[in-house]
Amino acid sequence: MKSTYRWQVINNMCMSANLNLTDDMPSTEFLETIIAGKPVQVTLDYINDRIKVRSNNPEDIDLLITYLNNLTLQNGFGKVILIARKEDWEKTLPFGYILEAVNSGYFQGDPAYFMAKFYSKERANRNSLILEDNILQSVLQHPLNPLPPRLPSGYVVREAVAEDVPQLVHLYEQIFTTYPSPITEPDYLQHLINKYTFKIILHAGKIVSAASAETDLKNMAAELTDCACRPEYQSQGLMSYLIFSLELDLIRRGFKNLFTICRSISTGINTIFRKQGYTYGGRLINNCSICGQFEDMNLWIKNPVNNLEYRTLPNHP
Ligand SMILES: CC(C)(COP(=O)(O)OP(=O)(O)OC[C@H]1O[C@@H](n2cnc3c(N)ncnc32)[C@H](O)[C@@H]1OP(=O)(O)O)[C@@H](O)C(=O)NCCC(=O)NCCS
Repeated sequence: MKSTYRWQVINNMCMSANLNLTDDMPSTEFLETIIAGKPVQVTLDYINDRIKVRSNNPEDIDLLITYLNNLTLQNGFGKVILIARKEDWEKTLPFGYILEAVNSGYFQGDPAYFMAKFYSKERANRNSLILEDNILQSVLQHPLNPLPPRLPSGYVVREAVAEDVPQLVHLYEQIFTTYPSPITEPDYLQHLINKYTFKIILHAGKIVSAASAETDLKNMAAELTDCACRPEYQSQGLMSYLIFSLELDLIRRGFKNLFTICRSISTGINTIFRKQGYTYGGRLINNCSICGQFEDMNLWIKNPVNNLEYRTLPNHP
């Protein structure tokens, strides 16, 4: 599949957008459609073989679900993720949706319900359930650590700029054989750096760790993502520092809901969010394609209100 990210909005007023996946298709498309007089934006995510949508009109959830069902069947997607509100999540259940996770403060303080419908047996299979549960239980035993982590001497943290793109591409190529977004495409990385907050840690002029915060200004919510640390620099607290540093910036800017969707099989990344006070919100089954396969993802949430400990962070620019 060609991995080109395009920001393409199609005004699609009918229920029959018949988009067939070919080599010429972009990796992600945004369809804007009108359902019962209200606009709905649907993400067609070809890399992860899924459709993603946020409901914004509880009265017409039936029409939205019918639309999504047609779109999915016509294009052969394996999973639909419907981010529902407290008024409508239960209405999706009779259509075969299941509740995978809850972000307690996503919609301007109101919860967001991750409802999922699967369209193949393989996609619905929970192959790693026991292993992931064991990892979660051990991570939840990890003590909370509200103190700012330390950045070892000789390391520098700063926001990424355009000149960092080639090194970042190399970092992500080294860490991930495949990734849920086209993170190794320079144009896409440049877009992330321009639009969101992207932070890096350098050692001897080389980028050794990176993470970003994708911000939703309407809901004042931010997703902490794209976490990677070079293998030879791992387990020194670098990612803990980066996450704390991103949080500090986000809280200063007034973000009310911070969350991450991270690999359920990675003890390291789950530990970082647990010890920094995030709450476990559930697991998204075969949610995205990463390192060559579909993997389950854990949701962790923090709704910071007047967190005084965020006022200082050693070496924070
Ligand atoms: C996950 C990752 C980003 C962590 O980066 P890091 O800089 O090594 O993380 P830290 O050093 O801040 O470690 C944080 C905590 O996790 C623990 N930890 C890290 N890796 C671990 C592992 N493999 N197993 C168990 N615990 C681990 C550390 O001991 C530390 O806990 P502590 O503070 O109590 O000692 C890094 O391992 C990585 O790049 N992995 C591959 C890419 C990936 O899977 N990214 C996540 C995508 S969702």
